[in-house]
Amino acid sequence: MKTKPTYVVAICGASGVVYGIRLVKALVASPCRVILMVSEGGFRVLDHEAGFKPGDNLETFLAAQGVVCHPESTIKVFEQTDYAASPASGSFVHSGMAVVPCSMKSLANIAAGFADNLITRSADVCLKERRPLILVPRETPFSLIHLENMTRACRAGATILPPSPSFYTFASTLEALVDTVVARILDHLNVDHDLVPRWSNGTR
Ligand SMILES: Cc1cc2nc3c(=O)[nH]c(=O)nc-3n(C[C@H](O)[C@H](O)[C@H](O)COP(=O)(O)O)c2cc1C
Repeated sequence: MKTKPTYVVAICGASGVVYGIRLVKALVASPCRVILMVSEGGFRVLDHEAGFKPGDNLETFLAAQGVVCHPESTIKVFEQTDYAASPASGSFVHSGMAVVPCSMKSLANIAAGFADNLITRSADVCLKERRPLILVPRETPFSLIHLENMTRACRAGATILPPSPSFYTFASTLEALVDTVVARILDHLNVDHDLVPRWSNGTR
């Protein structure tokens, strides 16, 4: 049996952790293996926006959020300080990484090649190994520094995919609106999905 593809998902300390959770849910349903990293800032926002409390078990929390693993899927969780984790090395082959949401701090570090934690190191490795790296930067409005960091990361090979939900699918729930963003992330990670209807000549 062929091993399922592995994706790295990093949740940083920006608003919109729901996108990261939803991405993990879609990947493990797909089925794919997920390596999950949450920064310290990411845990703070998970607490604020999603009710994750310090000391909670992340896998249990994800299960309560509806993340159900297909029998051929796995979720491996790593601390942001765990530099020995496999994605920190280019010799570990995976199918791509998404930083969802990506704070302006992590964006700056990735754009500068400043690998100060497992997330920024893993992103740095993606760029040097020419693997898909999707950054979902969240801030508003953007300063020139933010915009220049996005340009720099994009030039180095990252895909800048802002969490801009689309309204042309007439999503009727918050989850469905979130899916319009997650669907584009999955597209860029080359993962098949049917999260949202595809645009088809403007027909409803
Ligand atoms: C509730 C909350 C929401 C935040 N939202 C954002 C945000 O949308 N964008 C951003 O760049 N930083 C945001 N921050 C600040 C970052 O969490 C902070 O800069 C942190 O150092 C980022 O580090 P990390 O990228 O390692 O998680 C937020 C912080 C909190 C507590």
